[in-house]
Amino acid sequence: MSNLRYAIIGCGRISPNHIAAAKENHLNIVALCDLDESKVDSLIKSFQLPSKIKKYTNYNEMLKIEELDLVAICTESGKHDQIALDCIEDGCHLIIEKPIALSLDKADQIIEKAKARNLKVCACHQNRFNKSVQKLREAVVGGRFGRLLYGTAHIRWNRGKEYYTQAPWRGTWEQDGGALMNQCIHNIDLLRWMMGEEITEVFAVTDNLIHDFIEAEDLGLAIVKF
Ligand SMILES: NC(=O)c1ccc[n+]([C@@H]2O[C@H](COP(=O)([O-])OP(=O)(O)OC[C@H]3O[C@@H](n4cnc5c(N)ncnc54)[C@H](O)[C@@H]3O)[C@@H](O)[C@H]2O)c1
Repeated sequence: MSNLRYAIIGCGRISPNHIAAAKENHLNIVALCDLDESKVDSLIKSFQLPSKIKKYTNYNEMLKIEELDLVAICTESGKHDQIALDCIEDGCHLIIEKPIALSLDKADQIIEKAKARNLKVCACHQNRFNKSVQKLREAVVGGRFGRLLYGTAHIRWNRGKEYYTQAPWRGTWEQDGGALMNQCIHNIDLLRWMMGEEITEVFAVTDNLIHDFIEAEDLGLAIVKF
């Protein structure tokens, strides 16, 4: 077992992927936290985790009691930044689900504070590790395509009504951030990674194409200049 003491904050839909990764990397899972204790219980049950794992419903209490090295933040997106800042204050390295924050300002605060404390922050952009994406990246870095002048990224995912109604935070500006922030962020990240430069101009349009009952957009189109 690794001596990295690990915990998860937010034990909802995505958390099983984090437990699977923690197990694969032999992390020492010491604590799990969710506002809803039954979510922690079902995660423990489905992975048959040892009973010594501590359960918390308040992450501040968990940070106070446990000496953690690494924390995965898997709550709704709008809560990532405050939880991240509190964990960094406590001296923890972080894995933060995408998007790491819902504004550039908040993301920068996390990065600055982590740098100042010499702590690592990992954003969950797992698609960077897809074999095809890795191959493409190698080719780009190796100069196979010369100077890149143009790149496109599409996310043609459909999210039905049942997706948006499964939790109250989905489709809200404050906690979800809309289709560009929630779903498209995956390929926005890949496009920026491949193009390798900072974005200087953005022309964008968002709309509620089908789901007019949600607050944020379900469609986003953007042209960006690097
Ligand atoms: N990387 C990916 O491909 C991917 C896929 C799905 C979701 N996500 C991201 O993961 C995050 C969670 O999504 P989900 O689908 O698991 O949501 P979810 O609603 O199923 O789970 C969120 C959980 O966080 C808990 N929570 C909220 N506030 C908390 C707090 N203060 N302390 C402890 N627990 C708290 C909730 O009770 C809930 O159980 C989102 O940011 C989402 O964008 C990423």
